[in-house]
Amino acid sequence: MSLAYFNGRYVALDEPVLPIEERGHQFGDGVYEFLRVYGGRPFMLEEHMDRLYRSAALIRLEIQMSREELTDTVYELIRRSGLADSDIYLQVTRGIAPRNHPFPTTPPSVTMTIKPSYTLPPKLRDTGAEVLLLPDERWMNCHIKSLNLLPNLLAKQTAVEQSCFEAVFVRDGMVTEGSSSNVYLVRDDAIQTHPLSNLILGGIVRQAVRRMADAAGIPFVEEAFTPAQLLEADEVFLTSSGIEVVPVVKVRGEGIIGSGSPGPVSQELHRRYSALTTAR
Ligand SMILES: Cc1ncc(COP(=O)(O)O)c(C=O)c1O
Repeated sequence: MSLAYFNGRYVALDEPVLPIEERGHQFGDGVYEFLRVYGGRPFMLEEHMDRLYRSAALIRLEIQMSREELTDTVYELIRRSGLADSDIYLQVTRGIAPRNHPFPTTPPSVTMTIKPSYTLPPKLRDTGAEVLLLPDERWMNCHIKSLNLLPNLLAKQTAVEQSCFEAVFVRDGMVTEGSSSNVYLVRDDAIQTHPLSNLILGGIVRQAVRRMADAAGIPFVEEAFTPAQLLEADEVFLTSSGIEVVPVVKVRGEGIIGSGSPGPVSQELHRRYSALTTAR
């Protein structure tokens, strides 16, 4: 069953536990992680924990729970839920304090939720997705997994209203990433994606793609590309913990990518990713 955790208590997901003066609610003053559980085991948990503590440090938020305590809580949540395949959100905020911009001295809040895994629209992986290119209007710290997602939400909503699966951001003439995913192209049998910088979130699945590419002998090139290069690519695909590897076959109003069907590299990467998530 779905469950939540808030500052030491395990509660039903719909139980109202969050005080109004919680800074996550008032300001989006916090960071988060999303991770997936396969067969009762959280996938790449260490990497998610690394990124959570890194994001927190970058907003000058000290997570007072140790990494071991947080990890134990994740496992306890999984155990109590009884779910084999699930999605976990983990938020750490600057805590509960009267609304005022400067940082309070109150301890941070830790929230987690667990729910059955999200499933992609049926057949999407077979048919491939359509994306919409939009200007990247986010701030200059996109490497922080911050709770502030308004530009991402607005972009995703615009994409969905145009029947597209994802919005792909373009900043200064270069493709950065999706509103909730990393973006890659395949050209001449090499995978290319935006380098790690303040302009993108360093995805955990991006790390897995890099390892899978190394194992398969496919060059992994970290170099930004233009929308024109995206359109001329042999293949394009998106990754995130929620969607895994999704091929992109169309760019709204611009044209078709490659043959218009999911390409062999994207498909091979998804096969390898499924093997990683199941065979542990
Ligand atoms: C903006 C953005 N980029 C990339 C990703 C992919 O990250 P990960 O592979 O860790 O899920 C996400 C995931 O939600 C995201 O929100």
